[in-house]
Amino acid sequence: MKTNSYDTVVLGGDENGIERAAALLRAGEPVAIPTETVYGLAANALDPNAVKRIFEAKGRPHDNPLIVHISEFSQLEPLVTEIPDMARRLAEKYWPGPLTMIFRRSPIVPDEISAGLDTVAVRMPSHPVARSIIKAAGLPLAAPSANRSGSPSPTSAGHVLLDMGGRIPAVVDGGKCQVGVESTVVDMTGQTPRLLRPGGVTPEELRAVVGQLAIDPAVTSQLENGAKAASPGMKYKHYSPKARVVLVKGSPEKFSDFVNRQKAPGVAAMCFDGEETALEVPYVTYGGREDAAAQAYRVFESLRRLDEMQVGLVYCACPKEDGLGLAVYNRLLRAAGFEVISLD
Ligand code: TXA
Ligand code: MG
Repeated sequence: MKTNSYDTVVLGGDENGIERAAALLRAGEPVAIPTETVYGLAANALDPNAVKRIFEAKGRPHDNPLIVHISEFSQLEPLVTEIPDMARRLAEKYWPGPLTMIFRRSPIVPDEISAGLDTVAVRMPSHPVARSIIKAAGLPLAAPSANRSGSPSPTSAGHVLLDMGGRIPAVVDGGKCQVGVESTVVDMTGQTPRLLRPGGVTPEELRAVVGQLAIDPAVTSQLENGAKAASPGMKYKHYSPKARVVLVKGSPEKFSDFVNRQKAPGVAAMCFDGEETALEVPYVTYGGREDAAAQAYRVFESLRRLDEMQVGLVYCACPKEDGLGLAVYNRLLRAAGFEVISLD
């Protein structure tokens, strides 16, 4: 295989870049593309060989299914056996945007995409470059986040190059991702919609359309050993820098007192904007304590910065768990391998 042997080119998000990306995708090659959530590693969703290239480039476990990206609602019908009424209503409200819905899949969806499940995840991104690439390619595109499996998701073309440089033919640079965390994943195949992964569309926003929403236990807790994950991606340690991360719940004062007592070579903090002034250890900030949108925008970049600082242990101030904060909390819990300390 050609993995590891590319001279990865950076394409612009202009007409020329979009056309060149579309041509590569039509030829069965994987290409990293910007979306409003995070960068995705895209390939022709209807070509099993193209889809395999994604798994190879990412080092992704084969039991973790991929999201199919479309630019028009009409592309959904051939992929699924049924579009439930509530899914139509959610699509009307939140597509294009950071919402992924799970449907029963039709036979044209390759097994490689669904990783053995009888369902398929579909989303319509809002990023203009992503939409133009899907249109120009004339194909639905499978795209997981464009990081090496286990690493923080990429929110800039530079992050993609760090993880995927040499492993893929091209990345399209569409600037920094505006949402910063991945899409919300909701299973629409049961009676009640079920939240599998919190993301850019909040539970409150979903409930405003569908009324009842079940929250999968894996969103905020660790699966028992051997338990089957509704969303396979949620069972892995994920989004991690190389350092050990510990999530710390408590007031700003308790957080800084605690962290300063742990001061030692290799110990660092990830804290909210303005709260670094009380700290005696190296730090990164990731948005204001009350500003979940800023936290989402910066969380992955901040986790990557910790790698550059070459620290061994990071105490991370815990975000609130409502609204967009739930998505940030969910990612940090996984970065921390579910290691949480409560100071209250
Ligand atoms: O915002 C996003 O969703 C980004 C951008 C690129 O669109 N994509 C993304 O893909 O985050 P990925 O592969 O990193 O995460 C997809 C998640 C995984 O947790 C996977 O297990 C879950 O969605 N998933 C995909 N298909 C599924 C299915 N049929 N049933 C349940 N979960 C599914
Ligand atoms: Mg991912």
